[in-house]
Amino acid sequence: MQVVSISSLKGGVGKTSVTLGLASAALAAGIPTLVIDLDPHADATTGLGVHPSGQLDIGRMIKGSRKADLAANVVPSGWLAAHKHDGAPLPVLDVAMGSAFSGIYDRPDLGRRDLRRLATILANADRDGKAPYQLVLIDCPPSLNGLTRMAWTASSRVLLVAEPGLFSVAGTQRTLRAIELFRTEFAPALVPAGIVANRVRSGSNEHTYRLGEMKTMFGELLLSPTIPEQANWQQIQGAAHPIHQWPGDSARNSSALFDKLLDSVLTQGATRSRLHRG
Ligand SMILES: Nc1ncnc2c1ncn2[C@@H]1O[C@H](COP(=O)(O)OP(=O)(O)OP(=O)(O)O)[C@@H](O)[C@H]1O
Ligand SMILES: [Mg+2]
Repeated sequence: MQVVSISSLKGGVGKTSVTLGLASAALAAGIPTLVIDLDPHADATTGLGVHPSGQLDIGRMIKGSRKADLAANVVPSGWLAAHKHDGAPLPVLDVAMGSAFSGIYDRPDLGRRDLRRLATILANADRDGKAPYQLVLIDCPPSLNGLTRMAWTASSRVLLVAEPGLFSVAGTQRTLRAIELFRTEFAPALVPAGIVANRVRSGSNEHTYRLGEMKTMFGELLLSPTIPEQANWQQIQGAAHPIHQWPGDSARNSSALFDKLLDSVLTQGATRSRLHRG
């Protein structure tokens, strides 16, 4: 089970969009996946078209982490209803729902025991490898407070999302430093899975310049491909549809980019993990 946090210090750069794009690619590839919506705004839960029937949200599971039953409280994504599986078994795409309740843990001073709460839930769910997931994607809130740190403690990789703009690039550098510090103190196995540049406008001189700067600064951590600004993005997310099932050329192009990005995240992160283990 690979656990990947999708993080950024800055808000609105596309963490949830990238989480949804990767979840869509994983569904298309038949990779059994769980999305944990750790942002109290619960945008990923909305985008995944979830219809709960009495399950606990992730905030409440975290509160009772030692006894939390993940398997009993995940909800299948509404995306599955339209998934064409041609008689094959339906793939797994579950959601641990977000809610404002998780906000009580988003403090800057969360202690070591609290930081382990999500890791405990996942470890209990995967005892003897029984969790049905190959991939767990954690959509983080836009800060480096308790919830993001709790996500990192439960993860082996962090995928950073950045827009090619001045403050976003600087924010990414600060986040990389924070990951390094966090790794030394709390999570020796944690490695950056890379940085995905989102909302790239191909005709923008500023974006071309910033992308060049990011390449120089971050080297191979800057993942290929980058994700372009896409006009119908909000419409697709508003309809709670996976990009792979949306008609039209631009959605098809974006789907192919997320297929490649998923591949990069899974393989590049693995290479870095091996290097870190040494
Ligand atoms: N590549 C893109 N093209 C066009 N619109 C995009 C793209 N990526 C994200 N958006 C839009 O930008 C807005 C912010 O994106 P998103 O919610 O994914 O960011 P976020 O980092 O998760 O935000 P927050 O920090 O609030 O959680 C959304 O309305 C989304 O539809
Ligand atoms: Mg978000």
